[in-house]
Amino acid sequence: MRVSVIGCGHLGASHAAAMAELGHEVIGVEIDPDKCATLNTGKSWFYEAGLNELLAKHVPAGRLRFTTDPAEAAAFTDLHFIATGTPLREDGRGYDATQVIGAVETLVPLIDRPATIVGKSTVTVGTVATLQKIIADKARVPSIELVWNPEFLREGHAVQDSLFPDRILVGLTSDTARKAIEEVFAPILGRGDIDMVVTDPQTAEVAKAAANSYLAAKISYINAVAEVCDLTGANVDDVAYAMGIDKRIGHAGMRPGLGYGGGCLPKDVAAFAYAAGEMGAAGAAGLLDAVQAVNRGRQHAAVNLITHALGGNTRGRTIAFLGAAFKAGTSDVRDSPALHLAERLHQLGATVRLFDPEALDNARRTHPHLAFADNTLDATTDADVVVIATEWPEFTTDPKLPAAASERAKTRTVVDVRNALEAAPWLAAGWTVHQMGRPSRNPDA
Ligand SMILES: NC(=O)c1ccc[n+]([C@@H]2O[C@H](COP(=O)([O-])OP(=O)(O)OC[C@H]3O[C@@H](n4cnc5c(N)ncnc54)[C@H](O)[C@@H]3O)[C@@H](O)[C@H]2O)c1
Repeated sequence: MRVSVIGCGHLGASHAAAMAELGHEVIGVEIDPDKCATLNTGKSWFYEAGLNELLAKHVPAGRLRFTTDPAEAAAFTDLHFIATGTPLREDGRGYDATQVIGAVETLVPLIDRPATIVGKSTVTVGTVATLQKIIADKARVPSIELVWNPEFLREGHAVQDSLFPDRILVGLTSDTARKAIEEVFAPILGRGDIDMVVTDPQTAEVAKAAANSYLAAKISYINAVAEVCDLTGANVDDVAYAMGIDKRIGHAGMRPGLGYGGGCLPKDVAAFAYAAGEMGAAGAAGLLDAVQAVNRGRQHAAVNLITHALGGNTRGRTIAFLGAAFKAGTSDVRDSPALHLAERLHQLGATVRLFDPEALDNARRTHPHLAFADNTLDATTDADVVVIATEWPEFTTDPKLPAAASERAKTRTVVDVRNALEAAPWLAAGWTVHQMGRPSRNPDA
């Protein structure tokens, strides 16, 4: 089948590559000419595990190509995915839907035969209804279907999650739309191991918002418990483990630390909280406000822990700062808790020497005033403390790193604000290990 994907960012480029891998012929429309040109070389403009491999396979084979011209997409296919961005409005009052509305307003008048538009972007409830009015106003042909198919992929696992999703959720209003969706997802549905959940559009819109907010709430819940552990001397990692054995709770998403970040959860929780408040759903709004407040508080908790590890003063101290991406597996630094923390420590007078295996260029661009290192060990040179701010395995599980860092660092103190560190080799190499919500550990005697 032929498909188009409009908006080739973190979601759209991954989706386009996955659609090609599933056997479709794909055209990606990307408004930014530089991103488009990079994708046409068979490489991604951002790091996402496994994405370059798919682009390198399908772009040269002619199964996947990219254009800046939506007219090419309208001529090429009758099924168009919309994957443009929905950032938070600058005033925080919900999403800025300009990119989604713009994509639909541009595409619809170009369509000259029956077609299906499949929205994947995360939107406020009511957006599908708004877009349906735009389609009715702008369409040259009567039969343009609109479906909402929210995306649940996780950055860092985007390719895998696109090829093997947990479920396909579609909000739609007609059998024609349902048939188009069943056809495009046939390679996935044919495996027979996942459900296609079919709802009305507003249910699909709310389900996506509710799912992301629940994930954020789970993270904030264990982080709120970490606050209690800090004050009682309890160990939050053991608390989370003990809690998660209960299948109703589970262990996934229960790692305490620096809180959630990235291009999705922060803005999705904020937008859902705002929408809930506006519509008078006071319970939901209050709960989501608390989720956000706990998340903001993690920055303060991390600064306190690092300051304590430094003996009470950050000014003039050198911090080996490992991590800039909002999480491991991506180069994405949007609303990255790691970079927010680096910035705060810089403001407090520390020299923050940062390294990240994939997000270094993005960090240099967004935070040029920080200091940077070209590799992990260089970052640790003369450091008063090593801070692990993104849970890349090369920071957290490399058994050789503690000994090598011992040769360079001024003080053998590591602060892991992601609670991801395998502490034993660090303790054995003479380091003091600090983590969030649990007592500090001193080196083995
Ligand atoms: N990033 C994720 O992991 C993820 C996961 C699930 C859902 N989502 C949702 O998917 C949507 C996209 O997120 P993202 O992270 O990919 O954003 P992004 O900013 O990385 O990508 C959006 C892309 O769309 C392009 N664009 C904007 N207007 C366009 C137009 N009219 N025509 C063609 N291209 C256009 C932009 O240049 C950009 O490259 C958001 O609603 C987000 O909430 C994202």
